Amino acid sequence: MSNTQRVSGLDGLQGGFTSDNIAGASPQVLDALMAASIGAAQPYGNDELTAQLEQQFIALFECDLRLFLVPTGTAANVISLATVTPGWGAILCHPDAHINNDECSAPEFYTGGARLVPVDGPHGKLDPGLLRDAAQRKRGDVHSVQPSAVSITQATETGHVYSLAELHEVGQVCRESGMKLHMDGARFANALVALDCSPAQMTWQAGVDVLSFGATKNGVLSAEAIVLFDTELADEMAFRRKRGGHLFSKMRMLSAQIDAYLHDDLWLHNARHANDMAQRLSCGLSVIEGVELLGDTEANIIFCRMPPVMTESLLAAGFQFYTRRWGPGVVRLVTSFATSEREVDAFVATAAELAG
Ligand SMILES: Cc1ncc(COP(=O)(O)O)c(C=O)c1O
Repeated sequence: MSNTQRVSGLDGLQGGFTSDNIAGASPQVLDALMAASIGAAQPYGNDELTAQLEQQFIALFECDLRLFLVPTGTAANVISLATVTPGWGAILCHPDAHINNDECSAPEFYTGGARLVPVDGPHGKLDPGLLRDAAQRKRGDVHSVQPSAVSITQATETGHVYSLAELHEVGQVCRESGMKLHMDGARFANALVALDCSPAQMTWQAGVDVLSFGATKNGVLSAEAIVLFDTELADEMAFRRKRGGHLFSKMRMLSAQIDAYLHDDLWLHNARHANDMAQRLSCGLSVIEGVELLGDTEANIIFCRMPPVMTESLLAAGFQFYTRRWGPGVVRLVTSFATSEREVDAFVATAAELAG
């Protein structure tokens, strides 16, 4: 603590802005798990709750679809990608994409060798011009991987949100080039409430073939839904999920979590709260001398630059957040459904105290 200043700090608050997966689960989800645990139900997804959940998704997304529940976001992404990409395929994605940085080559492993090809663009979004070029690169050349799928993240890893027009543009490139479109929606609800549109508008109406519908970061204990709009691929996905070790025998315990997540719009309330807390945080930080916000706050992730001594002092005071990974002086702050106004205000007050 030699270089850091002493500040009032947390005063008994949690102060966690590391990620949205450091929070626990919503009480409604935990209650639903307890209720689902009573009695017996058919295993492997042949239970009533799982069947009824698929019907709920059909209503929610206003189209025919098939639902596959899995326990992690990585599983949702890689089973989705393996279903739409051959082993000799290329998956075009942003360099910052979770599949490119944080999934330990699981996409390559599950697809049997497909290659991730980074396509750049601002704010974690694919640049449509660069995407068009990449979609044609070495097409038909038997010596090269073949562009087969595009994966986008909504909201992006930098906390930005593709507009509907931007999504349509990516979808258009995919259609023109015969590529499938996957959406990593680990923060799907945060993006949805930010755009204030329908799930259908943000997915299949823009050309999305398969969605990783995230829930764990937004109040669920451990369950994610793969929403497959291209229903002809359902059999293949079913076998891939089983072969990949992700067909839960007690599927109803996953279904119960997602069911509670959708009930009474809990997922939207949670996401709205997380986004509101991010707005409160960035508003507070924006007037502190020495703190520079990097881009607009659109969902629940904030990047900012602050003096190293401020960063170190905030960490020493007990606040938790990631530093270093994004360049000198850059810190990432993530809010969640469980972030309180008091936590946000304590962070801002401590940063202001340090600046003053
Ligand atoms: C953009 C994105 N996709 C997917 C995931 C899913 O990760 P996990 O496998 O840890 O649930 C995460 C989690 O950090 C993420 O940020």
